Amino acid sequence: MRILSGIKPTGQLTLGNYIGALRNFKTFQDKGECFIFIADLHALTLPIDPKVLRSNSLDIAAFYLASGLDPKKCTLFLQSEVSAHAEANAILQNYLYMGELSRMTQFKEKSHTMKDSAIGLGLFAYPVLMSADILLYDANIVPVGEDQTQHIELTRDLVNRFNKRYGKVLIMPKAEVGKVGKRIMSLSDPTKKMSKSDVKGDIYLKDDMATVRKKIMSAVTDSGSEIKYDVEHKPGISNLLVIYAALKDIDLQAAEAHFKGYRYGDFKKAVADAVVAELEPFQKRYQEIIRSGKVLDILHAGAKKASVVANATLKRIKHAVGLLDENQ
Ligand code: AMP
Ligand code: TRP
Repeated sequence: MRILSGIKPTGQLTLGNYIGALRNFKTFQDKGECFIFIADLHALTLPIDPKVLRSNSLDIAAFYLASGLDPKKCTLFLQSEVSAHAEANAILQNYLYMGELSRMTQFKEKSHTMKDSAIGLGLFAYPVLMSADILLYDANIVPVGEDQTQHIELTRDLVNRFNKRYGKVLIMPKAEVGKVGKRIMSLSDPTKKMSKSDVKGDIYLKDDMATVRKKIMSAVTDSGSEIKYDVEHKPGISNLLVIYAALKDIDLQAAEAHFKGYRYGDFKKAVADAVVAELEPFQKRYQEIIRSGKVLDILHAGAKKASVVANATLKRIKHAVGLLDENQ
């Protein structure tokens, strides 16, 4: 089985990225051949300072390692270092259409406040590159948070379309979304997703522990006093319950039962303790990894391994569509 996923280095990673994606990756490294990359080409789809992009990319690599991904078991690499991604993108862009791309929620959310004259083609065509990322590795499983499942559905449409025309060339991928924590909400507005750009409602993986505690203690809660999972009427409490359950690897009923009779303040304190218990050692490992100075070497070695797999698939794709290669 092949597993592939990535995170784009556009900003500070949040607890949402951690619970929805990062933390799950390591569970796959013993289940099959695992490819986890830094989606740096995707980070260019909105304006970003080159220095920030470089440092974010290194950070994500260090976070991957700190989360327990082992380069001996799982290939870690930079998307831009494997040129097959850009080449596959150039071919596959002909098999996804304007109509379907313009219906993508992520595109609509990111572009609705922008003028047409400022929306880059890359932002619009984002799912093409993402499909290339997935298909180059013949990935069966793509672990992601809920917001990315639409892009994977589109990749599946592309596979059907392409294979219908050229035979069984591409492998059908499937999104794998965690049972608990697939969509962590903002602490300041629990009806909105926690995202890298939401400064007030986010917990960043690099926040110090006092800040983490403060943010959780001041999270928006709901009227009433019961600790209950009820997204419609109690979105704030439900979000904190999800965070707790995900970090403790228990289901929501068990979390609810655990907090029966708790007051909001004590409940929040317990959630803050759980987050601190997870992030404190994680940050220590991250610091050690950065200090080791080995991150770039690991990424370069990963790119070499990834290129072998990606180039073989690219060759298959090129041949299928009729591009001549060195053997013709
Ligand atoms: P991104 O920040 O868009 O690069 O997302 C990287 C990964 O984190 C993707 O798999 C997302 O689905 C996941 N993710 C991002 N935000 C959240 C969130 N608030 N809750 C759960 N998963 C998330
Ligand atoms: N689009 C993903 C995000 O924003 C990042 C990503 C790029 C990705 N290519 C991918 C995730 C391929 C899974 C598989 O989070």
